[in-house]
Amino acid sequence: MKILLLGYMGSGKSAVGQQLAEVLAIPFYDLDQEIEKELKKTVSEIFQKKGELFFRKTENNVLVQLLASKENYVLALGGGTPCYGNVMKLIQEREDVKSIYLHTSLEELTKRLYPERKKRPLIAHLETEEALNDFIRKHIFERNFYYNQADSKVQADATVDKIVSEIVLQLF
Ligand code: S3P
Repeated sequence: MKILLLGYMGSGKSAVGQQLAEVLAIPFYDLDQEIEKELKKTVSEIFQKKGELFFRKTENNVLVQLLASKENYVLALGGGTPCYGNVMKLIQEREDVKSIYLHTSLEELTKRLYPERKKRPLIAHLETEEALNDFIRKHIFERNFYYNQADSKVQADATVDKIVSEIVLQLF
C-alpha cells in the first residue's frame, strides 16, 4: 500500500507521516522535499523565481513519478497538491493507494502557522493573527471539496502519537 496524507499546511502531514512510516517499517517521502531535491531550490525560492503555476506543474510531475514506483511508502502531500489538475482522480483510481485527510480546526491551524508563516510563500504576507485566520478560513472552505474526497479522515488537532495510533487502527 501507498499511504498518502492530505491536509492543510500545518496539519502535521510530515510529522505524522514520518512516525507512521516508522511504525509500518516502510519508507517516508515528503512531496515538498522531493520537489526541492529535483529542482535544487526551496519551495519559497521556486514560488519567488518561477511562480506558483510552475510549482504546481512540478508538484504534479513529481507526484506522478512517485506513484509510478512499485514500492510501499507513506507520502505527505503538500497542502495544495490535491486541489490542482487531476490529482484526486489519479489517487482515487489507484487500488494500491489509501488517502487520509488530516482534518485540523481553524483555531489550531492559525495557532500553529502564525509563528512560522514567513517560511510559507502563500501566507508569508499576512501580518496579524486575525488576517491569517481569515485567510485560512476562506482557503479551507475552497479546499475542503478536494480534501473530503480522501478515503478516510482523522481528527488532527491531537498529538502526533494519537493521530498515528488512529491511522494504524483504521488500516488494520
Ligand atoms: C502549499 C503547501 C506547502 C507547499 C507550498 C504550497 C499549499 O506544503 O507545498 O508552500 O498550497 O497549501 P505543506 O502543506 O507541506 O506546508
